[in-house]
Amino acid sequence: MKRPGVSREAVLDHNARAWDALAAEKAALAQPAGDEAFGDPYGWLGGGRPGPPWLPGRLDGVEVLCLGAGGGKHGPLYAAAGAKVTVVDLSPAMLELDRAVARERRLAVEIIQGSMDDLSMLAASRFDLVVHPVSTCYLPDVRRVFQEVARVTRPGGTYVSQHKSPASLQASPGPNQAGRYEIVNPQDDGAALPPAGRSRLREAGTHEFVHSLSALLGGICAAGFTIEDVCEPEHAEPAAAIGSFGHRAAFLRPYIRILARRAAEGSGGTAILLVE
Ligand SMILES: C[S@@+](CC[C@H](N)C(=O)[O-])C[C@H]1O[C@@H](n2cnc3c(N)ncnc32)[C@H](O)[C@@H]1O
Repeated sequence: MKRPGVSREAVLDHNARAWDALAAEKAALAQPAGDEAFGDPYGWLGGGRPGPPWLPGRLDGVEVLCLGAGGGKHGPLYAAAGAKVTVVDLSPAMLELDRAVARERRLAVEIIQGSMDDLSMLAASRFDLVVHPVSTCYLPDVRRVFQEVARVTRPGGTYVSQHKSPASLQASPGPNQAGRYEIVNPQDDGAALPPAGRSRLREAGTHEFVHSLSALLGGICAAGFTIEDVCEPEHAEPAAAIGSFGHRAAFLRPYIRILARRAAEGSGGTAILLVE
């Protein structure tokens, strides 16, 4: 049976207040970056990690949009690495953390309160790089998000995003009596997930939505990006206690991270004929 949906406006209003509350209680995702991260901001952001480079070799002067990224971490670190940074986030209190860190560390960061599915305050093709930490789960419809990101990314520009994996959001946060994780929520039905207790998997008090891989990967492609790489960051600890974050992650990877590039201007399309 289809569960009743919630209007976009009601979701935004609810989640702005929920994230303000999480910032006020200094929740894990509302912890600004500390001295260690500021000691090597490019390395902390993943610039030096082995494997294919997801970030440009240098961030000096690169126009970066940190989207849904309030909390005093991503925006100030990109600015410390030399980028020209804009942070867009729904929650005034999460943005206040960015403002405070930028002030304290004497960093220039443009801070804008708004929703990631309406970036009309930003000029088209402005950004070389859009960085989007986990936050699409807080909106019922992600198509508009990817279309907006595509509009503000310059042709040839990069879009790095991370999302909660659909299977992980569909599964029970903890094990059943047999020690198994069960699929308990349907996929992509437009309704918010049932409220969950406190855990690293869900943020207390927020409305969250499952987005299928079709909506995430397909939505990014449909908006005009080419996906160049996908990974599921490693959090598995098979020997950890049953029900712990690490044990569950050995069965269900919690996140999916996507590297995409905006089609360059004038690049021709490709016709693919599928024959069954
Ligand atoms: C996981 S946190 C961001 C990164 C976090 N500070 C960290 O340490 O990784 C998710 C953010 O998404 C923001 N958010 C939720 N809904 C949003 C929306 N519709 N538009 C923009 N930001 C939104 C929240 O306010 C919150 O700051």
